[in-house]
Amino acid sequence: MCGIIAYSGEQKASPILFEGLKRLEYRGYDSAGIVTLDQNSELELKKDIGKVRDIHERLNLLDLEGTIGIAHTRWATHGGVTQRNAHPHVSNSAEIAVIHNGIVENYKELKAMLVSEGFHFESETDTEVIPNLIEHWMKKGLSLVEAVARTLQSLEGNFAIVVLHRASGTVIGSKNGSPLVLGIGKANSEIFIASDIPAFLDRTKDVVYLYDGDMVVVENHPKEKKRTWRIFDFRSDLEAQEELPRPVQSVSWDLEHAQLGEFDHFLVKEITEQVDTIQKAAAQDRELIENITREIKNAKGVFLVASGTSFHACLSSSYLFAKLASFHINTVLASEFSAYENFLKPETLVIAVSQSGETIDVLDAVKTAKKKNCQVVSIVNVMGSSLTQVADMTVLLNAGPEVSVLSTKTYTATLAVLTLLAYSLAGRYDEGLRKLKFLWNIVYNLTAQNTRKKIQQLADKIRNEEHIFVLGRGPLYATALEAALKIKEVSYIHAEAFAAGELKHGPIAMIKQNTICIVFVSTDTEKTILSNAMEVKSRGGYLVGIGPKPLESFDFFMKVPESDDLNPILQIIPIQILAYQLAVVLGHDPDKPRNLAKSVTVR
Ligand code: M6R
Repeated sequence: MCGIIAYSGEQKASPILFEGLKRLEYRGYDSAGIVTLDQNSELELKKDIGKVRDIHERLNLLDLEGTIGIAHTRWATHGGVTQRNAHPHVSNSAEIAVIHNGIVENYKELKAMLVSEGFHFESETDTEVIPNLIEHWMKKGLSLVEAVARTLQSLEGNFAIVVLHRASGTVIGSKNGSPLVLGIGKANSEIFIASDIPAFLDRTKDVVYLYDGDMVVVENHPKEKKRTWRIFDFRSDLEAQEELPRPVQSVSWDLEHAQLGEFDHFLVKEITEQVDTIQKAAAQDRELIENITREIKNAKGVFLVASGTSFHACLSSSYLFAKLASFHINTVLASEFSAYENFLKPETLVIAVSQSGETIDVLDAVKTAKKKNCQVVSIVNVMGSSLTQVADMTVLLNAGPEVSVLSTKTYTATLAVLTLLAYSLAGRYDEGLRKLKFLWNIVYNLTAQNTRKKIQQLADKIRNEEHIFVLGRGPLYATALEAALKIKEVSYIHAEAFAAGELKHGPIAMIKQNTICIVFVSTDTEKTILSNAMEVKSRGGYLVGIGPKPLESFDFFMKVPESDDLNPILQIIPIQILAYQLAVVLGHDPDKPRNLAKSVTVR
């Protein structure tokens, strides 16, 4: 959580950092700040609580001078949402400024040591120990690079940080478990260090993916009007620091992916993009999918591991693996995976699924698997992310950057990849691919204006509800879970999903006159789900049906053509739209729901 961006170049830094911050805000938006190095070699700092645009209106972030700077948007962990706790944090003598994503687990001990050395602290954050520790080590005679390395060696916990040194203008970035990527302008004309590529995608597509332990040192040479960058491993001996070779790679993402274009919000843009993204996800390298299929067949035990929306995609697909290939896949929430440790053997295959590739619960699960020498396959949207760096094989979703905190296009892209894998396992790869290709037209209609208009009527009707219940059977039970998550994440209306057969075992007590109940129906579950729907109807519930044909008991119906095994990919789309419309009609920010962040890098 938290977004980081640093700039070192020839242009005024503050407008570039401001734009970058806006694109990183999905990572956290409690407070934000920028520090630049001005012409007099002084640090100029502005930070405050709230979203970047609002802070700019109050403080005018663009009048910060200088061509080097670092900036941060925060998702609070240690210390409340206050101006003092906002980043950047500056050392006691204002020599070192730091931005940080992650948690310094041992900050209390480090702080006590620094206090005993005469350092004072302004904030309640764990971060503030970092600039002061660097300063502490420099006072003891270490060079800047050595002091940063020594400081990083003493931190416990996951982090990504960027350091700005006032006297030299050197910028140092480092990561350990949290994301950080380097952006390289033409001929090193400008260098970026950021949490995510979209932060600088308008200026360069050339990137260097940083690995855990990497420390990139960006030095400024003002006379020669140039800058250089070198990468070391901060964990190695300070005397024996050797430069690490890291390739510069070009990303295929386009800037338009990270921009709103004609849309009001990223959420609706990304929902609409599913017309293409499902197709792109399905267009995988066949050899790769067949290799993974072989690994699945040869494995003794296969686990699908994920969190949140990605977990729902896994759960949905586990029904498909069972149905098409008579194959049992254990689907486990990443945060619960350690409980399965005793079942992990070197022959076990773990398929870790994550849009961001940075979810700490998923990375922890992979660590557990690796400890037991299991093979790990990752299914990820963000190329170069931590998960891709630890997995033995990776399938990319190719959905382009997902900016809205709500996962939508990456959910259906994950379903498309897992569907392809299930068909491949059943020896029916071509059929699976053909079916996925056929979805294009249906997705186009489901995201079209007239469908959105119809769903708007439903949003208007249910906007003031306190509770919504969602029912499904089989893979559509997973769809119900995902629908409930989408609704509550952004409308803040309590939405709860049940496997329809479970209704009578308790939840039915909640149904009263006009209780809203969304029901996902497919041809094969129609009969059974109909009786569950009637149980709701006869207690006065208001039934919203989603499926191939209207049932008599439905009060509101959204047609989604029957697509057999691919129903889950399609049936979620009307609810994604509903969630978006509820957010808009209720005056919530659809892209930045309260308390949430896009990648969850804390436990
Ligand atoms: O990046 P990941 O797929 O690992 O993220 C997992 C969850 O944090 C994520 O799906 C979350 O539930 C979203 N907010 C859902 O919209």
